[in-house]
Amino acid sequence: MSRKKIIAGNWKLNMNQAETQSFLNEVSKKLNQNDLTQVQALVCPTFTSLATAATAIKESGLTIALGAQNFSQHKSGAYTGEINTEMLKEIGVTHVLVGHSERREHFSEDDSIINDKVKTGIEAGLQVILCCGESEATRESGETDAWVAGQIEAGIKGLELNDFASRITIAYEPIWAIGTGKVCDSAEANRVIKVIRAKLAELLDQTTADATSILYGGSVKSSNIDEIMGQSDIDGALVGGASIKVEEFPALVASAAREASKTVA
Ligand code: PGA
Repeated sequence: MSRKKIIAGNWKLNMNQAETQSFLNEVSKKLNQNDLTQVQALVCPTFTSLATAATAIKESGLTIALGAQNFSQHKSGAYTGEINTEMLKEIGVTHVLVGHSERREHFSEDDSIINDKVKTGIEAGLQVILCCGESEATRESGETDAWVAGQIEAGIKGLELNDFASRITIAYEPIWAIGTGKVCDSAEANRVIKVIRAKLAELLDQTTADATSILYGGSVKSSNIDEIMGQSDIDGALVGGASIKVEEFPALVASAAREASKTVA
């Protein structure tokens, strides 16, 4: 089964408009459109840099998708400080991240809010990247598989099979590997991703599970991406720190493209 390969950059709270512009100008010179036909490359800047990124991508002529790191589950109304899906689409956003551990931890987003956001994103016609992952304590207590499967079940609750097909991507990001330089052993990441895929098969059906791209995230960089992409069930990466480095992001996309061409061959 060949699934879409994806390299997604989560810029977090970095890069103002000027930095966004110069980063995308530089990165565009290093990215290869051939690679981008095999790999979905995605950048997720801050809200205020989204429009700048949309223009820079358009000017580059490259197929890079634009994602938002967050949005409101509400459509409109008295929600001070929030941004809705229509506002994002107006700028050219096609993807959204939901359920990142930093949103869960620092902004108290629980499974129910995350489920509402997944549904809102899907209803709006956006591609949703649903994140899951265990803490170090959960891993040490041997609860990783059940924890991650539970997050997936809660995140996609109430969705129809049709909503799911090629509209939702999962990102497995062990919290202890995020921003720490401590990458999860790639065979272990592959094993957990198989657990996630088995859960999707149980909740939806095998065909949908087999067609769903599942990414790994947590300290991915150019020096470890080949090993990660070489795993049977890992379809790409959600990348923080390395995704805002001019040399790194194109190298990650190139690695995923090499893997994609092997799958096709
Ligand atoms: P990292 O972050 O690549 O800096 O570990 C990954 C993420 O938070 O998505």
